[in-house]
Amino acid sequence: MIEAVVFDLDGVITDTAHYHFLAWKQLANEIGITIDETFNEMLKGISRLDSLELILQYGNRQHDFSTEEKEEMANKKNDHYRLYLNDLKPEHVLPGIPELIRNIKAEGIQIGLASVSKNAGTVLKALELEAAFDFCADAAKISKSKPDPEIFLTACSGLSADPLRSIGIEDAVAGIESIKASGMFAVGVGHTLQEADLVFETTNQLQWVNIKEEFDHWISRC
Ligand code: G6P
Ligand code: MG
Repeated sequence: MIEAVVFDLDGVITDTAHYHFLAWKQLANEIGITIDETFNEMLKGISRLDSLELILQYGNRQHDFSTEEKEEMANKKNDHYRLYLNDLKPEHVLPGIPELIRNIKAEGIQIGLASVSKNAGTVLKALELEAAFDFCADAAKISKSKPDPEIFLTACSGLSADPLRSIGIEDAVAGIESIKASGMFAVGVGHTLQEADLVFETTNQLQWVNIKEEFDHWISRC
């Protein structure tokens, strides 16, 4: 029996992963670093300050700024990001997600959120999806970002669900690692997610019947 399904937010529920990229690209440009979508794959699922460190390393500028300056830059990125959030509306929930949530709920299975974004509450509110989640792990209380399993384990624990009988859904390499490290069944959305137990190219293809079927095969082999 499946005890819970835990979703990542950015890039799974809605396309805010792209807004994060645009905001980082803008911030990076301001300090003379150019990033592209390929590099951005490494930032998905990574906390704000850790993402900034990766960008500075990429531009070979990791020793050029004080802790205060880095905090200022991270805040500036967040200001850029939040401007994009102003335009976020319920119609920006990615295709296939409302139906998937409905199908999971119809079976009485609990739904959780595992996002390390401190903006997760704002995003869910803008999408009018707050009520869909039985428990959202609080990013402010998480000490280790993905790929550490802490956020997925926290979500399972908040739902009183056994991670070994639960499913995580992610679009990030670090996120899939986090799900696997927690012992859950990992569903990936997108490319370069070979470590996932099941991969779909787009959210549109996230069919609940298929996910359940693959979960049953997986659990019978465990
Ligand atoms: C998610 C996103 C990352 C983002 C992180 C922190 O994991 O995938 O791209 O850096 O959240 O988000 P925040 O909104 O707190 O800066
Ligand atoms: Mg994501």
